[in-house]
Amino acid sequence: MTDRELMDIAEAASKNAYVPYSHFAVGAALECSDGTVFTGCNVENAALGSTICAERTAACKAVSEGHRDFARIAIWGEGQGYCMPCGACRQFLAEFSTDMEVLCAKAGGRYVSYKLRELMPHTFNY
Ligand code: THU
Repeated sequence: MTDRELMDIAEAASKNAYVPYSHFAVGAALECSDGTVFTGCNVENAALGSTICAERTAACKAVSEGHRDFARIAIWGEGQGYCMPCGACRQFLAEFSTDMEVLCAKAGGRYVSYKLRELMPHTFNY
């Protein structure tokens, strides 16, 4: 699958975002090494800190279905800047792979690509 195709899946996933507070929809498409793709969207909550980001939604869906070998994630958000994963999501994804690719889109559909280890060089671990 091309990066653009994975990003299109992330965009489609963003349509399910539950965002009554920020009104900022995010979609994620997480591809595992066997080609399986798990989608996610952000799910907000009146207790704002209980909000779950799109990336962690997708990661929890993958792990709970027995998939931990993350290869690539596309993140769709229509902001002025690229929709980068937040710090919590970087740490969460890095638990499973720091070698994965991270594609981050902005309004208009342009995207940038990183290795997770570039975005999260020193993860917490013990
Ligand atoms: N959000 C994500 O879904 N992923 C991120 O990595 C950063 C932020 C969501 C959380 C919240 O619903 C909205 O974007 C605004 O912060």
